Amino acid sequence: MTVDDPVQQFEAGLAKLEATYPQALEACSDEQSLRAANARFVGPQGELTALLKWMPKLPGDRRKELGQRANAAKGGIERAFAAKLAGLAAAEREAELSGPSVDVSLPGRHARAGRLHPMTRVVHELIDVFTSLGFDVAEGPEVELYEYNFDKLGFPPDHPATDMQDSFFVETGLNAAGVLDPAKARTVLRTHTSNMQVREMLARKPPMAVIAPGQVYRRDDDVTHSPMFFQIEGFLVDENVSFANLRGVLARFAERMFGEGTPVRLRPSYFPFVEPGAEVDIGCMICRGWRGDAEARARQSQCRVCKTTGFVEVLGCGMIHPVVFQHAGIDPEKYTGFAFGMGIDRIAMLRYGVTDIRLLYENDVRFLEQL
Ligand code: DAH
Repeated sequence: MTVDDPVQQFEAGLAKLEATYPQALEACSDEQSLRAANARFVGPQGELTALLKWMPKLPGDRRKELGQRANAAKGGIERAFAAKLAGLAAAEREAELSGPSVDVSLPGRHARAGRLHPMTRVVHELIDVFTSLGFDVAEGPEVELYEYNFDKLGFPPDHPATDMQDSFFVETGLNAAGVLDPAKARTVLRTHTSNMQVREMLARKPPMAVIAPGQVYRRDDDVTHSPMFFQIEGFLVDENVSFANLRGVLARFAERMFGEGTPVRLRPSYFPFVEPGAEVDIGCMICRGWRGDAEARARQSQCRVCKTTGFVEVLGCGMIHPVVFQHAGIDPEKYTGFAFGMGIDRIAMLRYGVTDIRLLYENDVRFLEQL
């Protein structure tokens, strides 16, 4: 704008303003851009505000008329702004009402409660069964002296179970060259819970009845073996303990865990720390083929868990070998006892009808929630 002809400049500015504002405001699609457009005309730096600053420079005879035109334009902008603002608000409300509905009565999302793993539940049940029969619970180390894991239990030095294929030796068995030297390997990850027989017999005086649940480790890792698994050991030492007592305890165990009438079967077997020794089978809980009716036999003939035999091996047991007593300082002439040891995963499978042992170790919540 030049000072030479303020009237002409003022009129040109006003005309441009009047021609542009209606469209500029109308084109806005939201409140923010509408307010910005409005400010471009009537804000502190706006076009109309700038024009009004020139008013004092206009000649007196034109000032009133031009001032009124400018005021009229200002009023027009204000009305257009207010109308557009109301229009936008109405459109927004309309969109809200006709859009997808929000159902405020829907239930909220709950935090999911955790629960015990089925293996842990089985351990608790087993502890219940045996403590109610008078057994104490003992826990021992998973890193164990070779001596307690093998020697004191009567394993001969060359027994296959002591082989490096089966045991995880803890580093102290390395010789100077860094090679594992079985003669020096004095500690292992315990390969069974039978180590607890030795520990407890050394720590207590008979009579004693103890169970010992816990983790054990073997160098087995394939589809049916995990290098870490769970066992529970049990043993009882007193005067005049007989094989019949062992049989009775096992019958109560089978009944409490799997229900009355569950068949228990003993087969002679060998374990270095018992004599006589036996393996114990119980009737397969998956097919219940032992019921013997046509339907049960049909299920048994398809059963993958018992491999169609109708029975599943669940534990090893026997009368404690005198050599174990001798190693623990207990007089084998005076005392007798029985021992048993079982894999807890087997029990969990039968208890919950799980047909694939790996499911118990994969920790897939979708599976665990079903048990
Ligand atoms: N320790 C044996 C194992 O891991 C299981 C076992 C067998 C335990 C016979 C016993 C027993 O107490 O008497 O395979």
